[in-house]
Amino acid sequence: MCGIVGEVGNDNAVELLIHGLKKLEYRGYDSAGIYVNDEKGNDYLIKTKGRIAELEKKITDDVHGKIGIAHTRWATHGIPSAANAHPHVSEDGRFYMVHNGVITNFKELKNEYLSDVHFESETDSEVVVQLVGKFASEGLSALEAFKKAISLLGEGASYALLMIDRENPETLYVAKKKSPLLIGVCDGFNVVCSDAMAMLNVTHDFIELHDGEIVELTENQIKIQDKDGNPVERKPFHVSQDASASEKGAYEHFMLKEIDEQPAVMRKLVQEYVNENGKVEIDEKLIKTIEESDRIYVVAAGTSYHAGLVGHELIEKFAGIPTEVHVASEFAYNRPLLSKKPFFIFLTQSGETADSRQVLNQVNELGYPSLTITNVPNSTLSREATFTLLLYAGPEIAVASTKAYTAQIAVEALLAKAIGDDLGFEDSKAFDIRQELSTVANGMQTLVDEKEKIEALAQKYLAKAHNAFYIGRAIDYDTAIEAALKLKEVSYIQTEGFAAGELKHGTIALIEEGTPVISIITDQTIAAHTRSNEEEVVARGANLISIVSEKLATKKDQIVLPTVHPLLTSLVAIIPAQLLAYYASEQRGYDVDKPRNLAKSVTVE
Ligand code: F6R
Repeated sequence: MCGIVGEVGNDNAVELLIHGLKKLEYRGYDSAGIYVNDEKGNDYLIKTKGRIAELEKKITDDVHGKIGIAHTRWATHGIPSAANAHPHVSEDGRFYMVHNGVITNFKELKNEYLSDVHFESETDSEVVVQLVGKFASEGLSALEAFKKAISLLGEGASYALLMIDRENPETLYVAKKKSPLLIGVCDGFNVVCSDAMAMLNVTHDFIELHDGEIVELTENQIKIQDKDGNPVERKPFHVSQDASASEKGAYEHFMLKEIDEQPAVMRKLVQEYVNENGKVEIDEKLIKTIEESDRIYVVAAGTSYHAGLVGHELIEKFAGIPTEVHVASEFAYNRPLLSKKPFFIFLTQSGETADSRQVLNQVNELGYPSLTITNVPNSTLSREATFTLLLYAGPEIAVASTKAYTAQIAVEALLAKAIGDDLGFEDSKAFDIRQELSTVANGMQTLVDEKEKIEALAQKYLAKAHNAFYIGRAIDYDTAIEAALKLKEVSYIQTEGFAAGELKHGTIALIEEGTPVISIITDQTIAAHTRSNEEEVVARGANLISIVSEKLATKKDQIVLPTVHPLLTSLVAIIPAQLLAYYASEQRGYDVDKPRNLAKSVTVE
């Protein structure tokens, strides 16, 4: 969601910024723009609706610069258009700015301070640059005007801001609150970006910024001040990730690459968390803190929430601690009655999701301990929680989450096992997680190797479908709702994940001749029941696809799942569902990696 890059001091500003924007494409966007200035009086502002490729077409050979800012916008206020794309410019043409986040009180600010100013866009963002222009015209320095404008932004505002003053194009002004932003330290120049991935080609050393901080960045100076104006010294952290980890290689789409990577991610997690003796090695302090709690609250959004539903089964079974799973956006404003000693787990691939962060802020204010399970080291939720566990899944670029989902479930299993073992529980001791995750990895591999079969099923049943259902019971229901989300978000087929037994209580009215119904059956104890639900939909004309564990499978079942531990079946059952979604999207001619209206990192509430 909205990507920001900036640089100061490098003669190849255009090349650097466009490369950075391309690396941030995965976040989702609908327009893009760039401003560069060569510090000799030449400057260029180029914006477009649509893809970065469109922006590149508009960048002629004469466009060059030594300082610049660039942006991909995901529309919130105002339609996707060149006018609404960033950078925005102050009315007098002096200040150029890009913004990620939301200015909640932009209408009030417009009315109070800017009634005589002409706005070029419908965005909330433009108000900030117009305020700076106004305050500077009244005699404030660029920095003072920048700070004053920021001080007026409402309590609920979120922002990552980069600004260039045309009259002093040697300094990049930077500010951050809630929205992610990092300074990249380079040799002879400096960069800014919303995600380290954008600048890994020029540096691996980044300085994190805290909320309320303001930075003056030149080619050889990084001057940070806190919200009270005190200077801040902060050492860079090193990002070891290889820039090539975010390349597509021979794959046509990141989604397929990431589906294929899942067996390797399972093995990597075993390597990272399990020692030679089969013991799960997790910070003892974290384990003890969880053991002291009387209830675990798992908070997450979207696919991560679905991973939480599966994790709930694992934690209660092996760690024996009552666990509740909550949708972050609901929890923040409709908080349930909390137990006396709660412990919070935030599941978040990106570590930046605003809905989850809103809950973490509340948890921190209440003084409760928390853990963030994330794929992104040093992400906001990782920094702000008491503890962090990493997913080690490698960059997930496709908007639809695949490998982060399975990695989240595996890390929850590892955590549950570590607690259960520490407490001496028999069920946990008998759970040989190294063996179980290796079996899962092999099972996943078998399934990803069956791509052609799944592609054919998608062609037959989904390529022309209008709506579809996934059904399952118990843990298969948890998988079914994630499978349904995957299918609907990339293929735009309206899909519901349904508790198989609940269908007959109303929703079965929607089943008609040819409606695809995909059932998931892995649990022996309720297999017979789901089988009767299959009969019910077939009798009403549904096209049935059954995804069934090998011990329960019959000749009629189209997809057979290799046997894995009963509480880890989601890890294998989701693979054909991810592939069905992928192929349905491709066959219907959609942009698989960047589905419409979606963003990878959802940094607005
Ligand atoms: C769906 C998807 C989203 C995310 C959700 C939370 O494929 O990716 O539903 O799971 O936006 O994001 P994170 O996990 O980054 O907090």
